[in-house]
Amino acid sequence: MEQRGIFISFEGPEGAGKTTAIANVYERLKADGRQVIVTREPGGITISEKIRSIILDNDHGEMDGRTEALLYAAARRQHLVEKIEPALRQGEIVLCDRFIDSSLAYQGHARGLGMEEVLAINKFAIGETMPDLTIFFDILPEAGLARIASNKSREQNRLDNESLRFHHAVYEGYQQVLQRYPERIRSVDASLSEEEVAEKVWKLIYSQLI
Ligand code: TMP
Repeated sequence: MEQRGIFISFEGPEGAGKTTAIANVYERLKADGRQVIVTREPGGITISEKIRSIILDNDHGEMDGRTEALLYAAARRQHLVEKIEPALRQGEIVLCDRFIDSSLAYQGHARGLGMEEVLAINKFAIGETMPDLTIFFDILPEAGLARIASNKSREQNRLDNESLRFHHAVYEGYQQVLQRYPERIRSVDASLSEEEVAEKVWKLIYSQLI
C-alpha cells in the first residue's frame, strides 16, 4: 500500500502573501520530483467553489454568523472527501490555502461564535483529519490590507470589506489558535519580501516533513 501523503495548510490574515508563497513552494516540490497538489478553502472543487461564491458574495451582507460558519464547514467536508483525502491516500503532498484554523480565527473568535462551538461543527465535518503541518503567515492587519488595496487585480470580497476591528480580532483569534496547537503550527514573518517568505516556507516544509 502507498504511504499516506502529507497535508500542509497555510493560514493568515488577508493580504499575507499565502497564495504567492504556495505557488513558489509548489514549483519547488515539483522540480524535486514530488507528487503535489495545490488547493484552497473555501473551494477547491465544484460544490465547494459554489458554496464559496455564496459565502463571499458582497450582496449577502445579511448572512447570519452561524450560517456562515456552517457553510464553511460544509464546503470543507466536501473538499476533504472529494479531493484532500483521495490525494493523501495516493501518497501526494497537499498544499491547502486555509483550512480549519481560518474558521476558528474568523468565525470562532472574530465573529464571536466561540472557538469551542466552531471546533465542534468542524470536527463533525472533518473527523480526525488534521493537517500534518500548518504555516501561519504572520502579518498585522493594517499591512495585509494595504497590500490588498495596492493589488488592483484582486477582487474585494465580503470578508475583506469587514472593519479593521474585525481584522484585528481575526489576528487575535489566530494567536489563540497558535497557542492551542503549538506542535502543528509554525509562524513565518510575512512582512518580509516575497523571496524571503518563500525561502522560509520552503525550509520549514523541507526540514520538517520531507
Ligand atoms: P481567501 O481570500 O484567502 O481566499 O479566503 C476567503 C475568505 O474567507 C477570507 O476572508 C477568509 C475567510 N474564511 C473564513 O472566514 N473562514 C474559513 O473557514 C475560511 C476557509 C476562510
